[in-house]
Amino acid sequence: MLLEEKIRTSEEVKKLVKKYGTKQSSILPILKALQKKYGYVSQFAQNEVMRLLNVSYVDVNNVISFHKILDKPQVKYTIRLCRSVNCRTRAKDEIIKVIEKKYKVKLGEISKDNKVHFKFTGCLGLCHLGPVISINDRVYTQVTPKKVEKLLSMLK
Ligand code: FES
Repeated sequence: MLLEEKIRTSEEVKKLVKKYGTKQSSILPILKALQKKYGYVSQFAQNEVMRLLNVSYVDVNNVISFHKILDKPQVKYTIRLCRSVNCRTRAKDEIIKVIEKKYKVKLGEISKDNKVHFKFTGCLGLCHLGPVISINDRVYTQVTPKKVEKLLSMLK
């Protein structure tokens, strides 16, 4: 998880703690709210809940297991856009817009139909061929907004 995603997640957890309070009984509504917003509750978000509510790993994990809250995204496609320095200088914001528009999803979130998780990634080691994106395990280099549109049109 990249720093900006961590910051956003941390702010969301703080907002929920403010809403539901710091009692142990707040764990469930906070986790449910996080799952509703992101489609799952990342390990980082769980750690934030532990830290801010001053509860243990076991406390959070029991709620996750009992209420079948997802701790990993259950999506068909994970689309990662490299935002490390070399790619970022070449990548156009239009690439982000193409993906966000196609799946009605904001960067870092999961589409409402649980099809796509769109996120940033660190360097994928192909800096000289940037901008770089990956869709599940396949990596695509020198992408343009048009090339991304074509790639997305092939996803069923
Ligand atoms: S900076 Fe994007 S692949 Fe290295």
